[in-house]
Amino acid sequence: MKTATPASYFATLYAEEDPFGYRSRWYEARKRQLLLASLPAERYAAGWEIGCSNGELTAALAPRCERLLATDLDARAVALAAARNAPHPWVTVTRAQHPHDWPAGRFDLIVFSEVGYYLDATALVQMGERLGGSLCEGGVLVACHWRTPFSAAPQDGDAVHRQLRRLFRARGLARLFGYLDDDFRLEAWGTDAPSVARRGGLR
Ligand SMILES: C[S@@+](CC[C@H](N)C(=O)[O-])C[C@H]1O[C@@H](n2cnc3c(N)ncnc32)[C@H](O)[C@@H]1O
Repeated sequence: MKTATPASYFATLYAEEDPFGYRSRWYEARKRQLLLASLPAERYAAGWEIGCSNGELTAALAPRCERLLATDLDARAVALAAARNAPHPWVTVTRAQHPHDWPAGRFDLIVFSEVGYYLDATALVQMGERLGGSLCEGGVLVACHWRTPFSAAPQDGDAVHRQLRRLFRARGLARLFGYLDDDFRLEAWGTDAPSVARRGGLR
């Protein structure tokens, strides 16, 4: 089995403030906008972003959440995300390595974006199994992953989504929607599958 990406890999990356180009790349801005636009509800009571990096996606999610937890295994990423989200006092940024560490409580929005391929196969299964238990009734879990394999990651985004689909189906979560292009997959699951139009009384 391929091993998980070591924490030292991220410690090296975060010598820079924006190693993934979240603040500079149109690719990242577009992907963030697609993810935000895909969320079925306008507002969420309790959000959790897993692997928040320097907090750019966190800052975009913050206006949609009453409370938002953002976690990352890397200390410098946590400091950067906390600084980026200082204007949003309802955002809590915490250092945690999942699935070993796990937050208390349940969430009506869980965002698992660009993290799954860093986990080894066993940790990804544990992650998928625990995520379902952290989702509130009526909540949504969104996953988004880059598809091209790269040497730092033990698996690719397509494999991550195949595994999530299998694990969530077994748990009885409904697949709400999917977006696919040459570069990334965006998919969501929930405890039920209400249409946005139905929720809004349009049908
Ligand atoms: C590529 S960034 C994703 C940032 C953000 N979620 C997004 O999609 O824009 C991945 C982050 O996940 C963190 N990470 C990787 N494995 C993790 C784990 N097992 N637990 C918590 N954070 C992890 C890394 O430190 C890194 O900051």
